Amino acid sequence: MITRWNKCYMSIHFITTIISLLSVPRMLQAADILSPAQVLRDGDTMISSGGDFVLGFFSPGNSKNRYVGIWYNKIKGQTVVWVANRETPLTNTSGTFKLIERGFLAIIDGSNSVVWSTNSSKTVQNPVAQLLDTGNLVVKDSDYSDPENFLWQSFEHPTDHLLPGMKLGWNFMTRREVYLSSWKSYDDPSTGDNTIHCDPSGYPQLTIKKGDALQMRTGPWNGVGFSGVPNGRKNTIYTFEVVMNDNEIYYHYELLNHSVISRYTLNESGVGQRWTWVDDTQGWVIYLTSPIDSCDTYGFCGVHGSCNIVNSPPCGCLDRFTPKDPIGWGRTDWSQGCVRRTPLNCSKGDAFLKYSGLKLPDTRGSMFNVSINLEECGAFCLKNCSCTAYASLDIRKGGSGCLLWFGELVDIREESPGEDIYIRVAFSEMGKDSKGMKLKLILAMVAVGGIILLGLSLLLYFKKRKKLDQLGGRTRSVSLKNRKDECHDTEIELPMFDLNSLTKATDNFSFQNKIGEGGFGPVYKGLLEGGKEIAVKCLSQTSMQGVDEFKNEVTCIVKLQHRNLVRLLGCCTQGEENMLVYEYMTNKSLDLILFDPLKSSVLDWPKRFHIINGIARGLMYLHQDSCLRIIHRDLKASNILLDSDMNPKISDFGLARIFGGNETGVNTNRVVGTYGYMSPEYMIDGIFSVKSDVFSFGVLVLEIVSGKKNRGFFHRDHQLNLLGHAWMLYKEGRPLELMGSHPRISLCLSKILRSIHIGLLCVQQYPEDRPSMSSVVLMLGNEGALPVAKQPGFFTERDVLKPEFSVSSNVASSANEVSITLLDPR
Ligand SMILES: *[C@@H]1O[C@H](CO)[C@@H](O)[C@H](O)[C@H]1NC(C)=O
Ligand SMILES: *[C@@H]1O[C@H](CO)[C@@H](O)[C@H](O)[C@H]1NC(C)=O
Ligand SMILES: *[C@@H]1O[C@H](CO)[C@@H](O)[C@H](O)[C@H]1NC(C)=O
Repeated sequence: MITRWNKCYMSIHFITTIISLLSVPRMLQAADILSPAQVLRDGDTMISSGGDFVLGFFSPGNSKNRYVGIWYNKIKGQTVVWVANRETPLTNTSGTFKLIERGFLAIIDGSNSVVWSTNSSKTVQNPVAQLLDTGNLVVKDSDYSDPENFLWQSFEHPTDHLLPGMKLGWNFMTRREVYLSSWKSYDDPSTGDNTIHCDPSGYPQLTIKKGDALQMRTGPWNGVGFSGVPNGRKNTIYTFEVVMNDNEIYYHYELLNHSVISRYTLNESGVGQRWTWVDDTQGWVIYLTSPIDSCDTYGFCGVHGSCNIVNSPPCGCLDRFTPKDPIGWGRTDWSQGCVRRTPLNCSKGDAFLKYSGLKLPDTRGSMFNVSINLEECGAFCLKNCSCTAYASLDIRKGGSGCLLWFGELVDIREESPGEDIYIRVAFSEMGKDSKGMKLKLILAMVAVGGIILLGLSLLLYFKKRKKLDQLGGRTRSVSLKNRKDECHDTEIELPMFDLNSLTKATDNFSFQNKIGEGGFGPVYKGLLEGGKEIAVKCLSQTSMQGVDEFKNEVTCIVKLQHRNLVRLLGCCTQGEENMLVYEYMTNKSLDLILFDPLKSSVLDWPKRFHIINGIARGLMYLHQDSCLRIIHRDLKASNILLDSDMNPKISDFGLARIFGGNETGVNTNRVVGTYGYMSPEYMIDGIFSVKSDVFSFGVLVLEIVSGKKNRGFFHRDHQLNLLGHAWMLYKEGRPLELMGSHPRISLCLSKILRSIHIGLLCVQQYPEDRPSMSSVVLMLGNEGALPVAKQPGFFTERDVLKPEFSVSSNVASSANEVSITLLDPR
């Protein structure tokens, strides 16, 4: 700074400094309290008592203007979290900061005018200003530190930062709202267009606005998180909640470990970002942004539209609804939204249909009642013709409270796991499913050819029966109706194995027959009486599901059939035992071959490409082609099984679903996954999406190409893990070195390069940058140009906050790879 001052100014400043030293005591460097007798000049600072925050004069970016602000003290660089005179900068360094009469804090410019000041209706005897270790600048009576007695506090006048402990929302007593507003630009902290609010008009939800226009919103608060922010509550860094009472409604978050530095900001383009400080080399890491994708754009699919980012195009109408403007809709203009297929007729009686797995629609204008249950809620909504939908308010303990919508339903997206909502439809829609017409047709056919059909179906039944009996043991068939809509129309037969036959097949679950131990329990090899080999997975007693729900899940999963998924043959639920029976895979799991220096030579390049392709196809099927849309959540080399022809088969899919896939259950809040394969946003925030699976897939691809494990990767030249190593080589234009000592077959070189490139695209830090699995399959299958890969997430072994994971994790051990189960720190 001094170099910028000219000599003349220096001497004037020097003289005034001397004079002021004689009259008003200078602010003591590094004190946390400013008394009325002191003054803070440009160049002086206040430092909070624990040394976490500094207050002083600063110039943002390339600006020469001077502002009073607060920034972090203990970390490199100047991250400003609050600005006092954001609209009224000083143009030189002659400003001072002090308490003026009545305990107002003020910034005074060189000509003695007040350019900024606080105000308060309260007055106290001995006002002082204090910078607290939370980053809150307060004016209070020197004798009291009770927040109730603060005359003024910067936490009630934030700029673009939400720090732990701040309340974002409304105080109804003072009729004041605390909200964040972005800076205008990097150089200019004055109020920008973007704001983030905790919106209490209806049931509380967080909203990001540009001017008056709503840009995005979270779904309503559901007791544990925000609807539409799946698993947003599970993280090891902070807890958060919405507090509602007669006096105030606000959102706040608190750090779980106070040595972690984390902040939430609204940037100049209106993007909310969560940051965590890693260290001096990596600096701040963003691990959560919102909006995440275009489905987060407010009302992207119009009224009654439903957005699903894995679909192409992403917009669809809710079931029983059709596009209002079919031609526009066909041209991907979704602005008109959808209307009911059959119009409502309240006087003749309507009904409510349950829709599951959704982010609840905009709650502005909604009504709620915490004391009535869902049934009463439905009865209430039915009585009032303008009530269009209802749902539970709080999803804890199986749901309670009542949330009611009046009018059109806007901004819905499909979410896994999402929430249930009951939407008003015409009575005639009930009982008729989407395939109503087909059903009629079938009925007509039955009437005509009833006898023939009956004969045929009997024949089919016995055939199937016979096949099942051959399958082994004494199996019995149980028909189960599935609760999922898409799986609804057919009844499927779920083979049930009995415990005796499985005990016999696995030689009483003997140690010799144990072939592995997954995150969910031990796996045994078994031989059925007919000679068929099976693998029996015993699920440990951690599932909180009831037996019926369990069977339902299994029924759904049995329906998933793909050449790259391990076939589930059936299950066994007897007494305390829950077991899944799979086909047995001769070549066991990929990790046992890939990472074994001797056995890995079996995997030549064509086989490796075959495996990569197979996994990609299997995963694509899980993500978008199956009726269930499953996110695997624990994709890793030990979950890829190989059959006798080295065809890869994904295993353990659907297990995450059985365990805690149902967020409305109690105690099912867990994050499953494996270090080294988990994406940053999932590992840190518990946010999972198809893109977290894509990340794991990318890790697998790089492992398959290099033959090395990501976790535990060691290189004598640097600290990077496999992802970092691959990226460094890629950036330096020598990606082939990733293969290490593998034989280099020139025929495959371009395919190897392509695989590495695709692997790197999949492990990019931000989920929105990663391709979907369908794009991956396309990229693998053709020769077109690929986008440039950006920096991967977690590319050093010093992962963000890793130690915390081992603290709170519940580890199920296995030979070399460990699936961890994180309990919700709530
Ligand atoms: C908090 O984090 C620090 C640094 O990451 C770690 O050393 C410490 O053990 C953590 N404390 C707790 C209680 O988890
Ligand atoms: C705001 O954040 C988003 C996402 O992280 C980024 O793409 C955008 O460039 C940022 N805007 C500014 C002005 O920094
Ligand atoms: C239905 O509910 C709305 C919103 O609360 C209310 O304004 C209206 O009077 C109610 N109608 C009837 C018939 O109760």
